[in-house]
Amino acid sequence: MKQRILSGITPSGSQLHIGNYFGAVAPQIGLQDTHETYYFVADLHALTTIHDRDQLEHNITGVVLDYLALGLDPDKCVFFRQSDVAAHSQLAVVLANYISYGQMKRMHAFKDKLQSGTSTDSINMGLFNYPILMAADILLYKPYGVPVGEDQRQHIELTRDIADNFNKAYKTSIFPLPEPLISRDLGRIVGTDGERKMSKSLGNIIGIFEDENVIEKQIMSCFTDPKRLKATDPGKVEGNPVFIYHDLINDNKAEVEELKARYKAGTVGDVEVKRKLVAAHKRMFKEARARRKELEGEMERVREILAEGEVKARKLAGETLAEVYRVIGETNKLN
Ligand code: TRP
Repeated sequence: MKQRILSGITPSGSQLHIGNYFGAVAPQIGLQDTHETYYFVADLHALTTIHDRDQLEHNITGVVLDYLALGLDPDKCVFFRQSDVAAHSQLAVVLANYISYGQMKRMHAFKDKLQSGTSTDSINMGLFNYPILMAADILLYKPYGVPVGEDQRQHIELTRDIADNFNKAYKTSIFPLPEPLISRDLGRIVGTDGERKMSKSLGNIIGIFEDENVIEKQIMSCFTDPKRLKATDPGKVEGNPVFIYHDLINDNKAEVEELKARYKAGTVGDVEVKRKLVAAHKRMFKEARARRKELEGEMERVREILAEGEVKARKLAGETLAEVYRVIGETNKLN
């Protein structure tokens, strides 16, 4: 029996970049070969920030196309939309009763909003309740593990607490406690500023599906070794973002080793190192970029994929919800 894995992707609207790809998307897609995988677009979660219907549709479509283009295979993996499976919302209503307000107040996502200047009183309740919906997303499928970024660790811990509280309240074990699967070295990929985590809002990303000239500009303006003034100065390779990216993207390992050696010796300029990175990026994402274009013209096929995912997800989620209703007493003599 393959272990079951589940994860959700919020269609927040920011373009996918190589930090997301190596930190989250590639490991998630890799698991479809070895595990039973359930991946969904968390479109209801997007409502915490997006209140524009066209924007929401655009973001959801974007995420679906990105994942399919990058190799998510609907024959191996159940791929669906959260809003297509009503059990997510239904279970969230139930689970809210097994966690305290005090514990909810300590959630980061909520606190981060506060730090950015919003007052507690103006936080929307969707954002405040977000971790409960996330717990429902997860527990419906009873997964063994949930691959997420480091920023989601606390949410998985809360999910475990909710599951544990529920199990204890009814002396059952219907909810196995899910493991957070966080890849330590790839969870945080440095941005082109060489300092902070790669993130759209910081403007330090290297994209995947943007126009080639945009990506080229992103790569060519990347920070390198700040102490190196001329191409003839010996440079530092460790921690240098251009080489971190070469290690991730460049399939020509011999070229990478040669560039590193020459960089340390002071016999190669930044421009050449970056040009080779641009070329490696093209090689790595050529197929995905072509596939995404193709899919844009095959929306009927995309809808079919999501409809198939919906059927499979509903089956499993429906079973768990029915089990929960029995345990708590909503299903009773009157049904
Ligand atoms: N909150 C997650 C994020 O922002 C997305 C998400 C929603 C999720 N529901 C989930 C991830 C369930 C894993 C499991 O990245």
